[in-house]
Amino acid sequence: MSIVEKFVTMDYGPAPEDPREALVWLDLHHRRFSHFINGAWHPPVENKFFDTTDPSTTEKLADIAQGSAADIDAAVKSARAALPAWQSLTPHARARYLYALARQIQKHSRRLAVLETLDNGKPIRESRDIDIPLVARHFYHHAGWAQLLAQEFPGHEACGVVGQIIPWNFPLLMLAWKIAPALATGNTVVLKPAEFTPLTALAFAEICQEIDLPPGVVNVVTGDGSTGEALVAHPDVDKIAFTGSTEVGRAIRKATASSHKKLSLELGGKSPFIIFEDADLDSAVEGLVDGIWFNQGQVCCAGSRLLMQESIADKLIAKICDRMNTLRVGPPLDKSIDIGAIIARVQLDRIQRLVDQGVAEGATCWQPSIPMPSRGLYFPPTLLSNVHPTSIVAQQEIFGPVLAAMTFRTPSEAVELANNTAYGLAACVWSESINVSLHVAAQIKAGVVWVNCTNLFDASCGFGGYRESGYGREGGREGLQEYLEPTWFKHAPPLHPRPLAIDQPPQQIPESSAGSAANPPIDRTVKLFIAGKQARPDSGYSIPVHSPDGRLLGEAPLGNRKDIRNAVEAARKATAWPKSSAHTRAQVLYYLAENLSQRREEIAQRLSEVVGKTQALNEVSLSIERIFTYAAWADKYEGAIHNPPFRNVTLAMQEPIGTIGILCPQEAPLLGFISTVMPAIAVGNTVVGVPSEIYPLITGELYSLFETSDLPAGAVNIVTGRPHELLKTLAEHDDLDALWVFADAATCSTAKALSIGNLKQTFTNEGRSFDWFHPAPSSDRFFLQHATQIKNIWVPYGE
Ligand code: NAI
Repeated sequence: MSIVEKFVTMDYGPAPEDPREALVWLDLHHRRFSHFINGAWHPPVENKFFDTTDPSTTEKLADIAQGSAADIDAAVKSARAALPAWQSLTPHARARYLYALARQIQKHSRRLAVLETLDNGKPIRESRDIDIPLVARHFYHHAGWAQLLAQEFPGHEACGVVGQIIPWNFPLLMLAWKIAPALATGNTVVLKPAEFTPLTALAFAEICQEIDLPPGVVNVVTGDGSTGEALVAHPDVDKIAFTGSTEVGRAIRKATASSHKKLSLELGGKSPFIIFEDADLDSAVEGLVDGIWFNQGQVCCAGSRLLMQESIADKLIAKICDRMNTLRVGPPLDKSIDIGAIIARVQLDRIQRLVDQGVAEGATCWQPSIPMPSRGLYFPPTLLSNVHPTSIVAQQEIFGPVLAAMTFRTPSEAVELANNTAYGLAACVWSESINVSLHVAAQIKAGVVWVNCTNLFDASCGFGGYRESGYGREGGREGLQEYLEPTWFKHAPPLHPRPLAIDQPPQQIPESSAGSAANPPIDRTVKLFIAGKQARPDSGYSIPVHSPDGRLLGEAPLGNRKDIRNAVEAARKATAWPKSSAHTRAQVLYYLAENLSQRREEIAQRLSEVVGKTQALNEVSLSIERIFTYAAWADKYEGAIHNPPFRNVTLAMQEPIGTIGILCPQEAPLLGFISTVMPAIAVGNTVVGVPSEIYPLITGELYSLFETSDLPAGAVNIVTGRPHELLKTLAEHDDLDALWVFADAATCSTAKALSIGNLKQTFTNEGRSFDWFHPAPSSDRFFLQHATQIKNIWVPYGE
């Protein structure tokens, strides 16, 4: 083609990246890789290998060791052995290792980028300009956290040995997101890369050798899902961090339920990309290209659901189609390619299947007439319009270059559509009105919201989901929490539950508790407390409550499934509480403390019947103090403004989780209820509480306090009954966003195992005994952290 012709067509010529360096590196390893355990290469115990291939050609790149349970065991042992020495290093010494990793990654950055593109099929432009620079940035940033650890996280310690399982879409970046914070906080690691993309993790292992990282601090065991399963099941792993599909996340949750492994899950998404009529449409279209066609759409936070305001839909679709006509699909090592290869045949088939299903359900499919490579695994950029919000392509993660478009009329309709998903990972909002954008951003249930921008990531900002997109954050201060535990919590002794005084069968509730000759008087019959009202239980039965010396103290209602459902419904409807200002919530809590103070003696007198006078007095006065603590926090538990290296602010907002079910501790009927329910409501959650089984009559004192303290109806609901039966309904309830359980180890495991349905967050005492009379449980924001989830809202500024 002549220069004149080139000027006319304005077309790109091929600009291939030279893969030689990366291929030489593969040859140096004889294209056969073992596991990296205890600082050295170890062949797999079962001597099995599998192929890793280049998706752009489907040619084999290397043989990769298939990890077995024995390999995982060797790696976990090596990580355990390395732990004491790694933890005894000064924070500065650990910071120097992280810094050395960052420097070495930068030094090898081009080779790593090429290797990533060869193994994954992503355009070299992306691996070179996005993935690898972010990897280095992650290690730099966390070198800083290692340095500051002791002063910024006093009273905390590392989890210990951490098992990390990562996916294939951002292989080295996901490794960095996992390994950097783990090492900075003093953990040692066993990492399992995805079977499709192990090469850069192995190159990273070699970098660990190059910088003389102490052997065993980082171990890499390659293999498929069964290797991951073995890592999850290993009894000597203290924490699992997983990124991947929601289905596997759920399986991991189940597999870890009966252990004390801390768990963070970064799962799938179906993120809305909302464009309002006043948006800068050309910018929005460029954002969309990045939002859905970046990394072939194989991105957990891909803007895969386009929500357009109806008034601009036709114009916008025309612009999107024009832009799609200019996208270049082809060999990913070509620097002028926009869309590379799909990771594997199975994924390609999955994308096609979902698109076909979407069309069968009424969507219109449009693909540009652009040249497609004749070999390799490619899928054209695809636009599905007229998509119904319930269609499979609007609900399921496609994980490919496929956009599903829908329209809305009003901002509230946009929010409703945006939240009409089980996921909650990310969202984009495009509008020139800052009021509209931030108003909508605040209402979207997602862990990341990009305003007039998309797919921005940084080591200083938390990333992670709401709802079935998982929990825990990666990046920033919030990400470090996932690898730390308060020392008091980690070392609390096991809880030995107190036997009930007398466990009697339920009785018919008398019409009146006044008594008669046939029905002798009882001290009290309390009711359930639902939607701000005292309610009789659906069962019509009650349970007698006794003092330790066997005296009948009163009757507590025997709540059942239906009562729990009513209570959850009431809690969800109590929207005034989460919407109220932090100042208002603080005032209500102070008022509650004031009322408790006024009734101190009477309440202590009743409570003393079960726990003795000293504990009763202590419980009441500490409850008053604890309510003060959380009233104080209500308007002080603030978010942060992160500092990414772009022209924008990232607002890390502390948001309530929603509706929380709480199985309150048995051992301190009043103080236990207050210590768990107050932090939850202080930050705007609503609660369904099950009070202590040894003295459920405390419900009567509690509701008379709530009724006189301006707490809106439904903000706190109380259901008494057999805790284990109520727990099952709470755990399986899909409208509950979190479940907190403070009980023996077996009950905690049951709670975790039963609540995997909607992947609700669980927070338990891990069967440990908390000293509710000690300030520790309320002194280090521990409960507040569990009561909130952080939403990072990215807002650009400048021209
Ligand atoms: P996957 O969830 O099966 O794989 C992710 C990682 O988990 C891999 O390292 C895999 O070996 C490992 N793994 C698989 N089964 C396991 C088990 N039972 N226990 C422990 N580890 C296990 O994802 P896959 O099959 O590669 O992709 C399927 C779908 O998942 C995609 O189409 C996409 O929708 C979604 N996905 C989401 C990702 C995200 O970043 N949220 C990343 C990758 C996939």
